[in-house]
Amino acid sequence: MIKKGIILAGGMGTRMSPLTKAVNKQLLPIYDKPLIFYPLSILMLAKIKDVLIIVNKGQLDQYKKIIPNGKKLGIKITYIEQDKPRGLPDAFILGEHFIKKQSVAMILGDNFFYGQSLSKMLNKCIKINKGAKVILHKVLDPEKFGVAKIKKNKILAIKEKPKKFVSDLAITGLYFFDKNVVKYSKQLKPSIRNELEITDLLNKYKKRNNLSAEFIGRGGAWLDTGSIEDFYKTSNFVSAIENQQGFKIACLEEISLNNKWITKKEITASIKFYGNCQYSNYLKKIIT
Ligand code: TTP
Repeated sequence: MIKKGIILAGGMGTRMSPLTKAVNKQLLPIYDKPLIFYPLSILMLAKIKDVLIIVNKGQLDQYKKIIPNGKKLGIKITYIEQDKPRGLPDAFILGEHFIKKQSVAMILGDNFFYGQSLSKMLNKCIKINKGAKVILHKVLDPEKFGVAKIKKNKILAIKEKPKKFVSDLAITGLYFFDKNVVKYSKQLKPSIRNELEITDLLNKYKKRNNLSAEFIGRGGAWLDTGSIEDFYKTSNFVSAIENQQGFKIACLEEISLNNKWITKKEITASIKFYGNCQYSNYLKKIIT
């Protein structure tokens, strides 16, 4: 059973410059809350209470202002700084002491997931104790993503940004790994762009016939918020859902309360912390 999760929330955010010159991308708003709330909410929906957030060197204070330590959410949050973007598997090298020879989930700080059967799927994913699992989602432009060719739930091939069609199933930024992930990540060599590649790490599992997949079907959404257009598209999506239903997406306190990790007392403390705002009004509604 996976009990630990990492959010990789550093990166240069080059495609969103100048917005990202002073503020990290994951602290910019997706509609009514910072982007980082969304990947954190996914780990919390997976019932993961022990979270490591990897941030850029020099940006720790910004993060701590918004999410100090997880106490008000009934979870434990620790931070590590990454001095430069060395690639996604660097998360497991930096996080070695956090992982402590256990299995671990990893989500990219800029990935957004939404859908009815999401919690059910997450519940299945955290049960792996051997191998690795990726989450796939059908896309119209597979040449922009890492993709996986599959047979049932088994992965036959993975390819990074394929020029020729291989599959239209994109590998999303949510992964589940067994305890070998640190060892395998340390064996990786940097690619031509001088980064450790997640595809190379996944291939280590595939070679051992140990890589499987779950799917986000057409009832679910996966949005990668890497560009300014993506940011506005995702914001509009959240706004449309929230304003139609009256439920918030990624309200961290609501998830904690549902998981019975906190009581109304902690929510009252959060309301005080956020101040007089729409998000606090929503929290007030939850506890009355
Ligand atoms: P990318 O999209 O590769 O990078 P980026 O977000 O910095 O954007 P750009 O390409 O515009 O410069 O990264 C995906 C996510 O992973 C993003 O949330 C940043 C994070 N990341 C790290 O924290 N450390 C890393 O070493 C890498 C490669 C990414």
